[in-house]
Amino acid sequence: MNNSKHFSNRRTFLKSAAGIGALGTVLPEAVLANNPQLVSPDPAKGHVFLSEPYLQYAGPGSMTVRWIANLPSYSWVEYGETDSLGQKAHSVTEGLVDAYNRINGITLRDLKPGTTYQYRVYSKEITDFKSYKLTYGKTIESGLLRFKTPDEQSDAVSCLVLNDVHDRPETITHLLSLKGNDPFDFVFLNGDLFDYQTDEQQLIDHLLTPCSAGFAKEIPFLFVRGNHETRGKYRSELPQYFSNPSGKSYYSYTWGPVHFNVIDTGEDKPDSEPVYAGIVDFDAYREEQGRWVEQVMQSPAFKKAKFRVVFMHIPTFHHNNWHGPMHCQKVFTPLFNKHKIDLCISGHTHKYGVHEPVANQHNYPIIIGGGSKDGTRTIMKLKADRKTLRLSMLLDDGKEVGTYQVTAKR
Ligand SMILES: [Fe+2]
Repeated sequence: MNNSKHFSNRRTFLKSAAGIGALGTVLPEAVLANNPQLVSPDPAKGHVFLSEPYLQYAGPGSMTVRWIANLPSYSWVEYGETDSLGQKAHSVTEGLVDAYNRINGITLRDLKPGTTYQYRVYSKEITDFKSYKLTYGKTIESGLLRFKTPDEQSDAVSCLVLNDVHDRPETITHLLSLKGNDPFDFVFLNGDLFDYQTDEQQLIDHLLTPCSAGFAKEIPFLFVRGNHETRGKYRSELPQYFSNPSGKSYYSYTWGPVHFNVIDTGEDKPDSEPVYAGIVDFDAYREEQGRWVEQVMQSPAFKKAKFRVVFMHIPTFHHNNWHGPMHCQKVFTPLFNKHKIDLCISGHTHKYGVHEPVANQHNYPIIIGGGSKDGTRTIMKLKADRKTLRLSMLLDDGKEVGTYQVTAKR
């Protein structure tokens, strides 16, 4: 019967995708039912987009476009320097064009740096998928949108930073309304956007929708986990919805005069804490990142950059001395001091503040963004040219509550 064959194909695909191998392990139906790539959360909605397109950083001369469809589809992006577009990209994995999926991430490559492109996304429903007979249904498309590619050689970069939104999407909308008219190249989401991960709808409603409405259809955002994103039954699905330069939860990139290092600081309590029930292992992961940071900080990109900025959700100092923060301090502070970073930007404590360098502790300033409650929420504006890096922190009433300025030493 067609349906059973179809289901068995899906099972085979899932086994190999999960690296389970051919030893006969059969995935439980519950796992199949929960695979977000294959299973529509709401078939009754039909063939519609569940999210608008949202841009993720990929690199100079490239851009990654993401979006979510309701039904498994074949999806692509058409793009070009004019509104007639003219070029097309889809995603290919090991010879297979990505298809019969819903969560899309398509990287447009060989773009001109610092150039404005227009684009439109398409999803063509696949109604039946047999060996030699694939049946397409209706195609849906987005409106015509635009973006500007990053330029690594640019003399300037600017970004906005949000943290600790904790499942309050209206906070994203409100804080973005305070940014004024200054242009910005990207938005950095510095962890704890959620309380804990429940499902795809939470991601759409509490993050993707306010971001797309505010900027993300035309300006990319980058995301790093906070400790809260490591919790809940949907925690392991998160990477399917985001793209960054390394494909891991920690990464680095250079944009204009700034080299950015992004660290995944993990949980705040010991891995052995009963509340984690034995399913986190962050000491080892922080140590892995320490070895990686040491390598990155010896790279030409890091050494040559006019400014060196670190994003990490949990700060290395000015915290509650719990295990996770203290382990961050132990693993990363010697590296930051030795390799002379210019600025560390964090969140987590829900107490915004600008902390000057402290001798024999941290030789670098630590900026901590605010919390999730009204009157504590902040947005930061970071701007650098080849001579000066400036940060301004605004409270949710629009008042500036912190500034920091660094003059280039290199
Ligand atoms: Fe946190």
